[in-house]
Amino acid sequence: MSVRLDYTNMLAVENGITEAELRAEFPKAKAALGSLRAKRDQIRWRDLPYNQEEIVNEINAVAAKVREKAESFVVLGIGGSALGPIAVQQALNHPRYNELPREKRNCPKLYVEDNIDPERMQALMDVIDPETTVFNVITKSGSTSETMAQLLIVTRMLLDLYGEEHLKDRLIATTDREKGNLIGIAKKYGLTTFYVPEGVGGRFSEMCPVGLLPAAVCGIDIAEMLRGAAEMDVLCDSEHIEDNPALMYALLEVIAMRKGANIGVLMPYADSLKYFSDWYAQLWAESLGKKKDGQRFGQTPVKALGVTDQHSQVQLYTDGPFDKTVTFLAVEKYRNTFAIPHAFDENPNVAFLSGHTLNELISAERRATEHAVTVSGHMNKTIILDEVNANTIGQLMMLFELATAYAGELLGINAYDQPGVEEGKNMTYALLGKKGYEAKLEEIGESVDRKVI
Ligand code: PA5
Repeated sequence: MSVRLDYTNMLAVENGITEAELRAEFPKAKAALGSLRAKRDQIRWRDLPYNQEEIVNEINAVAAKVREKAESFVVLGIGGSALGPIAVQQALNHPRYNELPREKRNCPKLYVEDNIDPERMQALMDVIDPETTVFNVITKSGSTSETMAQLLIVTRMLLDLYGEEHLKDRLIATTDREKGNLIGIAKKYGLTTFYVPEGVGGRFSEMCPVGLLPAAVCGIDIAEMLRGAAEMDVLCDSEHIEDNPALMYALLEVIAMRKGANIGVLMPYADSLKYFSDWYAQLWAESLGKKKDGQRFGQTPVKALGVTDQHSQVQLYTDGPFDKTVTFLAVEKYRNTFAIPHAFDENPNVAFLSGHTLNELISAERRATEHAVTVSGHMNKTIILDEVNANTIGQLMMLFELATAYAGELLGINAYDQPGVEEGKNMTYALLGKKGYEAKLEEIGESVDRKVI
């Protein structure tokens, strides 16, 4: 496989997991494999790599039309409706994509608006030309306040500028086929609409139209991404636990949690994977942060970037408490090679760098940091990607989705709900006076400062 898990250092370190401890958990891991297989009908995100040929063609056709007419493509969405599109765009397109001239990009600029900071909304309005912008509102529930507020702002602007009959040329909807408010709006205005299939939760939705449409608009080979996800899905169904990277990842983390590793750091050594960590953080936190039968579960995801955070967080990862695991993401072949030239040969303390490449330097620093974390006794593991491309990103996402799902099974919790998030949404509805939330407002009482509303 072109994405591999090396977990040697979870076992090799002083404060790690012993081979015997790991093997003793194999029966539980096998049971988790079985129970996840049994849920296959409910967790439809696992089928996304296999059952979307038609929808991929449809997405590619719509994307081609958008590319022809639009200079900017703006996603309105939050959480699982935004983090996947951001991660995939950063991983697979030019790191300064939006700054490239159109002829080098060949596709519209991409903006993913996942916050409601008024200054950010104004900033977006300052840089886009509505005449050449297509918006894609993405909300599975069709009712998230942040996304609906953005939709109201954009719709009003488009209606005022172009009238009702042209809304459908400038706004695409991605939502549930039946539930929520967006589907009714989409029908009323005849919007091109893509559906989030049933059994596909927000944070597991990158491989459906939520993630595939923005990716396709920006020229990404979405069929290849799905192929990669399918390859990883097959591997992660293996009953040989040592050959099943998702199950092994989950098992190691669950044992580590029991040993007090309440923090799970993800540290890619590639700028292209920087936002993959944001996507991972939501997936791991929202899926596993649960309480059940008086017990609390979860592991706090922390995002770090190699080498940048060597000069920020690694001191803590070596000399700090044994409350964490570190997962490095290593890339074997970067898409560019950059030589470090000669200039100060008279100064050996600088000249030792000359003649090497940035590729050699970043790889050496990753190995050095891995070694430092290992000798300091901290559990760590490395996921190695041959290179970052549509196939390996599909593999990597499926690996993490399945690791999260297996961890949920091993912990005995529901990894697919988010009652804490829903509670926050309901309180916001109450504070803003949404009909039907009067009791919630009573419940909140004076504990929240209502004067600001
Ligand atoms: O994973 C989830 O379900 C959530 O994080 C949602 O993605 C997020 O709350 C946004 O929800 P929606 O897509 O319904 O607007």
